[in-house]
Amino acid sequence: MGNINAAVDLQQDGDVAVIVMDNPPVNALGYVLRGGLMQAMEAVRAKPEAKAVVLIGTPRAFSGGADITEFGTIQKQPLLPEVIAVIEAFDRPVIAAMSGVALGGGLELALGCHYRVAAPGSKLGLPEVKLGILPGAGGTQRLPRLMGPVAALKAIVAGTHIPVEKAEGLVDAMCATREEAVAFARSCIGKPLARVRDRDEKLQEARANPGLLDEAAAPLLKRARGQLSPAACVQAVMGAVNLPFDEGLALERKLFRDLVNSKESRAQRHAFFAEREATKVPGMPAGLKAAPVKKAAIIGAGTMGGGIAMCFANAGIPVTIVELKQDALDRGMGVVEKNYRTAVSRGSMQEGDVAKRMALFTATTDWSAIADADVVIEAVFETMEVKREVFTKLDAIAKPGALLASNTSTLDVDQIASFTKRPQDVLGMHFFSPANVMKLLEIVRGKASSYESLARALAIGRAIGKVSAVVGVCDGFVGNRMLHKRSAQAEALLLEGALPQQVDAVVTKFGFPMGPYAMGDLAGLDVGWRIRQGRGTTAPIADALCEAGRYGQKTNAGYYKYDGRTPSPDPEVQRIIAEQQRKLGVNPRTIGDDEIFERMFYPMINEGARILEEGIATRPSDIDVIWMNGYGWPIRTGGPMHYADTVGLKHIADRLDFYADRNGDETLRPAKLLRDLANQGAGFAPPTKAAA
Ligand code: CAA
Repeated sequence: MGNINAAVDLQQDGDVAVIVMDNPPVNALGYVLRGGLMQAMEAVRAKPEAKAVVLIGTPRAFSGGADITEFGTIQKQPLLPEVIAVIEAFDRPVIAAMSGVALGGGLELALGCHYRVAAPGSKLGLPEVKLGILPGAGGTQRLPRLMGPVAALKAIVAGTHIPVEKAEGLVDAMCATREEAVAFARSCIGKPLARVRDRDEKLQEARANPGLLDEAAAPLLKRARGQLSPAACVQAVMGAVNLPFDEGLALERKLFRDLVNSKESRAQRHAFFAEREATKVPGMPAGLKAAPVKKAAIIGAGTMGGGIAMCFANAGIPVTIVELKQDALDRGMGVVEKNYRTAVSRGSMQEGDVAKRMALFTATTDWSAIADADVVIEAVFETMEVKREVFTKLDAIAKPGALLASNTSTLDVDQIASFTKRPQDVLGMHFFSPANVMKLLEIVRGKASSYESLARALAIGRAIGKVSAVVGVCDGFVGNRMLHKRSAQAEALLLEGALPQQVDAVVTKFGFPMGPYAMGDLAGLDVGWRIRQGRGTTAPIADALCEAGRYGQKTNAGYYKYDGRTPSPDPEVQRIIAEQQRKLGVNPRTIGDDEIFERMFYPMINEGARILEEGIATRPSDIDVIWMNGYGWPIRTGGPMHYADTVGLKHIADRLDFYADRNGDETLRPAKLLRDLANQGAGFAPPTKAAA
């Protein structure tokens, strides 16, 4: 509690006034903090002894930006641009002393100050684009004036957190402590007030050469695939170059208002809070601290094992990889090193770091090397027999209390846990391929998994930069179980008359990076074929492709033919489909894009409802997190369950009934939860922080 209000304290340090912002956890600029800042500035105005002002936050955060929960509500005065205007026009130097993070409105607040200093390690950035908006408090106008418009454009459209050490032009001095910041402020007394709005020198080049920004913007917009906010960011930065400052500011404000009320931004704000919510386990004792992980071990040096091991090494955690045979181990380690070399050639890693990263790996065929690991993750062949062997061994060798995890994507984690005498320490940690790249980690909670184990898995997820969601045990868990419903429809649609390229086009138009068949070709069609053979099930067209030796990209032919990695439609596939239609007596028909869309996505949403009914996922938003981070569901629609709520559950349930009746397929019948909610006119989600 400050002396100005709950979030702001005004202190005097000799001839320097210090305004301390303390609004836990991240100094979000909610109305209490904004109001406190305004009052503090007025209080300083009345103090002639204050010759300069330092604005400071906490070590964790100067400020994490606007309070996102206020978006979509009527924001209370003063608004952030008004606070910034008062600071910028102040008659004495105001110095932002940044530490931790200065993001979004937090950085914009600092850009409105006359000088900026920062503690080493601080991260600065305007990440609003990730919330489907743009910096709405002058960031698009001031950042280009300090960084140059091209660099600013890239930073704003990517929403990057820039380490202060690389934030050229943004900071006037590095100050590790408050005392140093105050001393810096003292050195500014009597100097002219340096207002960013008046600095046009870095804009001149782009003003003289209007093509410069267009050229920089083109690849950024291509990558954004039609999303609204990146395009608005570009427009606003162009305004910084081409318009007088105040007009640029007005343009930015208008674009901000339009975006904040868009469906896209609502979905992206939902995604932000959903990711944080997904790590909260109901009933977990408050304050339960996860035991630290100083050493990890991975069983299996295949694609998954190697990728998972890289996640640990990338986070600076020593990791041991165990394989049965030396040649498989050598092959696996070769792939790991090759991946790092590729990162160097792409510029995302320094040459000198490869050796440092590789030094964190211990590769061995000796199982006793896992004895001191805090976590062991198994990534071996997907049969229960193999898992039994591995977990029996782990139980005998791993130290007491070590977390024992399986990367299984389908098998029963409870059965796997039963192979040990410590089922409380066992759970699933399901990574997605390529494991060193994909963000999602499904943490599969067994019946016996303890809260300590869950807390540890969640802490590991955080340490290695994953987005985690805790799910229960069932076939395919959440992600793959829903995917199976899409795959079944993908097969059925081909049999009924659609073509792979038509279906894939509908799915990519919605925003997925790939359609189901292109994805199948990439993953390898033989994988599913073998699983079906093992289970005694069939998928006539997928089976026929495999019987013809068409396994996907690896054989240059699958649902498409390939020239390198580029797919093109193949008349041979059409022939194979027609043959299966004849065999099964199916009369193909023309299928419209609307039907394709509904049959791709509604059965998945329906399965999501069943998953909720069964308590496999705790919240609908957890399912959204899984699909956005593991399967490429477009973030601008907020994930399957959020999307379903925006469409309306009644429509979805009615369409599912229609397809169930027409196709005589009871698996398409709406789940009870879906039908009940539809009848009540409700959605899956209760109102959330981002609802508005
Ligand atoms: N508004 C409201 N709540 C916020 C918030 C914000 N800007 N930033 C974080 N929080 C909340 C989180 O929801 C979380 O709440 P719970 O504990 O209840 O789940 C809590 O603060 C801690 O957040 P994290 O778990 O994410 O903490 P972290 O230390 O891992 O990360 C962070 C901190 C980097 C600031 C991260 O929270 C983050 O990226 N926040 C959003 C930053 C952002 O996008 N700012 C721009 C806002 S829009 C804007 O500023 C518009 C404008 O132009 C005026």
